[in-house]
Amino acid sequence: MEVIILPSATEATLAGARIVARVVRESPHAVLGLATGETPERLYAELVRAHRQEGLDLSRVTTFNLDEHVGIDDAHPASYRRYMQEHLFRHVNLRPDRTHMPDGRAADLDAACAAYEDAIRAAGGIDLQLLGIGADGHIGFNEPTSSLASRTRVKTLTAATLEAIRARLPSGTEPPRHVITMGIGTILEAKRCVLLAFGERKAAAVAKMVEGPVTALVPASALQLHARTTVLVDEEAAGRLALADYYRDVQRNKPAWQRERDGS
Ligand code: F6R
Repeated sequence: MEVIILPSATEATLAGARIVARVVRESPHAVLGLATGETPERLYAELVRAHRQEGLDLSRVTTFNLDEHVGIDDAHPASYRRYMQEHLFRHVNLRPDRTHMPDGRAADLDAACAAYEDAIRAAGGIDLQLLGIGADGHIGFNEPTSSLASRTRVKTLTAATLEAIRARLPSGTEPPRHVITMGIGTILEAKRCVLLAFGERKAAAVAKMVEGPVTALVPASALQLHARTTVLVDEEAAGRLALADYYRDVQRNKPAWQRERDGS
């Protein structure tokens, strides 16, 4: 796992956006895995800026979001389709038929989950998966004790995750308890993962993900088994990393050809 510690969330966000933009420029048909929540909001704003000011072309890109709530329509404030529309989709030239979300309104949710896996496979797999991390170490909505081999399926959010989601919604709005989420096995098949984490609230989860044992109790620790994951953190989120000085040293001494290859 490559850990890049940057002085601020803004710098970490810009580094993440540069990686995404570069993948798209090099592979105009790239398949991107997308996340929602507070963490990637500014990254999407930066992609919108790059689209408007630098001509970043997303017209041939395909996207698959990690997760969606069960049982709500796109107008619901908790809808991740709505979030994606607001933060990215309606501001750039992505083709609507190439933006995929799990279908939380399907009559047969198991079939919808299987169809999502099929669609990812049919698109050739995910080239770059963007991830946030929950304070409990979840990725996607793979809550602690999720199988490390899991595939897209319905999950029940923990009370703490539900509260974190509720806190971002207009007061009085109750988010659904259930979601469809890509599984950990699904995420691990992405060719490259970029995980962003900001703030002291994420520091314990980040340390366990990077330096703890691989365990279903910390779903993000499964990324230790992924061959190409970059973790972009600010100083606060890096606060509990035992080997932080080593990670800084690695970045200071990163060979130019690696920087060029990674776009970081
Ligand atoms: C969202 C997702 C989640 C979030 C995580 C962190 O699509 O998959 O894993 O990335 O809950 O959320 P924020 O960024 O709001 O702290």
